[in-house]
Amino acid sequence: MPTIHLIISGGIAAYKALELIRRLRDAGWRVVPVMTRSAAHFVTPLSVAALAGEKVYGDLFSLTDEAEMGHIRLARDADLIVVAPATANIMAKMAHGEADDLATAVLLATDRPVLLAPAMNPHMWDHVATRENVKTLAARGMHFVGPNGGDMACGEVGTGRMAEVPDILAAIEKISGARPLAGKTAIVTAGATQEPIDPVRFITNGSSGRQGVAIAKALARAGAKVTLIHGVMQVDAPVGMNAIFARTADEMWTAVQQVLPADIFIGAAAVADYAPVEIAGQKIKKSGEEMTITLRPTVDILKSVGNHTRRPKLVIGFALETESHFENAQAKLAAKKSDWILINDVSAMHAEDNKITLLSSAKNIEWPAISKDSVARMITEEIVNHFARGEP
Ligand code: C5P
Repeated sequence: MPTIHLIISGGIAAYKALELIRRLRDAGWRVVPVMTRSAAHFVTPLSVAALAGEKVYGDLFSLTDEAEMGHIRLARDADLIVVAPATANIMAKMAHGEADDLATAVLLATDRPVLLAPAMNPHMWDHVATRENVKTLAARGMHFVGPNGGDMACGEVGTGRMAEVPDILAAIEKISGARPLAGKTAIVTAGATQEPIDPVRFITNGSSGRQGVAIAKALARAGAKVTLIHGVMQVDAPVGMNAIFARTADEMWTAVQQVLPADIFIGAAAVADYAPVEIAGQKIKKSGEEMTITLRPTVDILKSVGNHTRRPKLVIGFALETESHFENAQAKLAAKKSDWILINDVSAMHAEDNKITLLSSAKNIEWPAISKDSVARMITEEIVNHFARGEP
């Protein structure tokens, strides 16, 4: 999910941050709120948390906050940091590199773009101290939106009103850069399916879900509207993403059909190829004898998507092989009517890194072993290029 860390400092305009959170989430952003102590006098952390659907961070010295997401991660994990409202006080602290609370520590530690939406009394805005601080911050590459002129909450007239929410949204879109997959929809399957034998046993494949989740996140960051359909995973589905749990291959196929049509399909799930014909109603007793379980082939989701009447423009599958990688992947490309097959080695299964080769009828790109997040970025880049070239 593209993520904004929203710092709310203490001013009357803080109430507008609530509307901003709502609109940002509508636009597909995940919003992680950070409030200064004085902001809590103007809006309650409870309403901020409810609208953001996230915990509110606030105290630099809270050990639980540090354990959950340390201030350095808060500073670095966002795509963008927005300060709205930005008071004269927080800008003065930023200009001088102070870091005596979480908000200012995050602002000092960040290497992400920062957007400030100042809001204050017109005399404070006009004061030479504020003018100089703004000049310093602008010279350091901080972005500004507003303030606007007009009637102030304090009864005065002048410049100091926080920019309106649509203007802040427009500034955010401009700074966050191109979202080349905006308007595109994507379905990503991830994780392992489980095919029950009885109420406690099942057949499954090894899969952590890491690569699929990384791809879903990278596509969302590029602006695509992503649905993640996942089996059992060792990682959480991204917060705020439309995610559907499907335990079995049949359930996963039902979910995929419900979500189609889409522009992009990526089958990163390890779908079990066979399922027991019969599922015992009770736990099967141990008899000491040999036993036979009759298996039926499951639906091949990738192949069915490739042959579907509502076939996505770009269908991508994975091939995990232990031998003859290239030949098997080549055969899979045709058999499953996929546009691309991403070949990965079995060594990637529970690892942090992955070594991928992209195979299509037209090309063959081999990447070195890189992190699964980097793999996701490279694949997303190829997808963006594919659509930019207007390839069929
Ligand atoms: O045939 P194989 O299982 O090796 O193909 C792997 C690719 O096919 C993966 O993209 C996987 O998600 C997909 N697949 C599927 N449904 C199945 C089996 C595999 O979508 N039943």
